[in-house]
Amino acid sequence: MAASTFEHRVTTADTAAVLGSGDLPVLATPRLINWFERATFATAQTVVEAPQTTVGTVVRIEHLKASTVGAVITVSCSTPISDGRRLIFHVRALDEDGAEIAVGEMHRRVVDSDRFMARFTEATPRPAD
Ligand SMILES: CC(C)(COP(=O)(O)OP(=O)(O)OC[C@H]1O[C@@H](n2cnc3c(N)ncnc32)[C@H](O)[C@@H]1OP(=O)(O)O)[C@@H](O)C(=O)NCCC(=O)NCCS
Repeated sequence: MAASTFEHRVTTADTAAVLGSGDLPVLATPRLINWFERATFATAQTVVEAPQTTVGTVVRIEHLKASTVGAVITVSCSTPISDGRRLIFHVRALDEDGAEIAVGEMHRRVVDSDRFMARFTEATPRPAD
């Protein structure tokens, strides 16, 4: 069962040729992953409460079918399976013909926002490269 579903129309800016993940004018895998991340983050926000948030930790995606500029892609993610700190989502993308263009699994970790960021502000600054 899908918990969140979003539609995206592929633009030139979404292509592998523009994003540098390939040289063809087709939907780039990293853009597809970004769309999945946005869907899982949005869904995760409905199950955690401030000051908690979630960060993406695992991406397992199979990109099965190419999509050209103008294609409308429906991205969906399941309600998460949770073991308390970890949320596991099944994700899926279909094109306008209903063909499955990608499937996979993504994990997010529930973290306390302040504690998560504190280790960076408290760390000794690294010398400039
Ligand atoms: C999520 C993540 C912290 C889990 O790593 P981990 O090795 O299981 O974490 P650990 O339990 O060893 O803790 C390491 C540090 O992470 C932070 N951390 C761990 N769990 C945390 C939580 N629930 N809340 C806030 N910070 C947490 C703490 O700084 C912790 O150090 P501390 O124990 O001294 O406070 C780590 O995998 C990570 O940061 N991944 C990158 C996620 C990311 O940046 N995604 C992109 C942005 S969405």
